[in-house]
Amino acid sequence: MSVSVAGVQLKNPVIAACGTFAYGVEFEDVVALSRLGGFVVKGLSREPMAGNPPPRLFETAAGMLNAIGLQNIGAQAFVDEKLPRLRQLKNIVVIANVFGYTREDYERTIEILNQGEGIAAYELNVSCPNTAHGGIQFGGDPRLLDEVVATARHRSPRPLIVKLSPNVTSIAQMAYVAQEAGADAVSLVNTFVAMAVDAETRKPRIANITAGLSGPAIKPIALRMVYDAAKAVRIPIIGMGGISSAVDIVEFMLAGATAIEIGTASYWDPCATEKIVDELQKWCVERKIAKLASLTGALITD
Ligand SMILES: Cc1cc2nc3c(=O)[nH]c(=O)nc-3n(C[C@H](O)[C@H](O)[C@H](O)COP(=O)(O)O)c2cc1C
Repeated sequence: MSVSVAGVQLKNPVIAACGTFAYGVEFEDVVALSRLGGFVVKGLSREPMAGNPPPRLFETAAGMLNAIGLQNIGAQAFVDEKLPRLRQLKNIVVIANVFGYTREDYERTIEILNQGEGIAAYELNVSCPNTAHGGIQFGGDPRLLDEVVATARHRSPRPLIVKLSPNVTSIAQMAYVAQEAGADAVSLVNTFVAMAVDAETRKPRIANITAGLSGPAIKPIALRMVYDAAKAVRIPIIGMGGISSAVDIVEFMLAGATAIEIGTASYWDPCATEKIVDELQKWCVERKIAKLASLTGALITD
């Protein structure tokens, strides 16, 4: 079941996704954290952030909209208050997700996190508006993406995973830019910009008006994007978007993913990540798959 991503050895390819697993410690009583390949903690910034006003979650057909607004306790509080407990837990892989609104924000956040022990890798969320460049998403412009990844690479002694925005014309190009700027792996996809409207009140369902769509509704698009990205880069790919079963994982691996993340599924079943690890093991045994990693990129297209 083991896989290796960005130089990090995972006991299985199942990683709990950022924003759906708090800081890991909160899930301690619900999920055996050591059974997972790893988990990504909620996106961290240089200062704490309160996030957007409610309503900020809305269930859609086969999916979920969220506009949490990157609420988090801040990188320093994570190092001081969450990491000490995580360090006591044996046999876990903690990935810290990082975001900012300027290159300096990313630099500073990484510098703070560098002081904490027990982080296996950084996952860079580039789906943020760059305030210095008129609010264009870092991950929506190849030049800005190159800059922010190179900056983070420079500051980070730890493996760097770049989490790509799906709200782009060519995911293959963005994956390639991230690779050339020094990423050790790319993860994709983040949420799709979307919205929902209440026909009775004539108001948006989410206070922020637009929000990010996740869950099974996005799976086929995410799968296609993993496939496109895998053809464009040599570095490993962590796939995600609507994964809620072992079979979904296998599909992403066949399309080119080395590991995967599970997000929204933890909202309808907080134990989903651990259950899917069991399911995946059973799937491999039943089909006599000796080495799960052999499925990566094994899609038959002729
Ligand atoms: C409530 C919520 C909060 C999220 N917060 C973050 C975040 O802070 N940073 C980030 O990079 N991705 C964040 N994500 C995106 C997920 O990590 C994941 O990329 C996306 O939801 C697609 O996977 P899924 O369909 O399995 O949920 C969030 C997703 C949800 C549903």
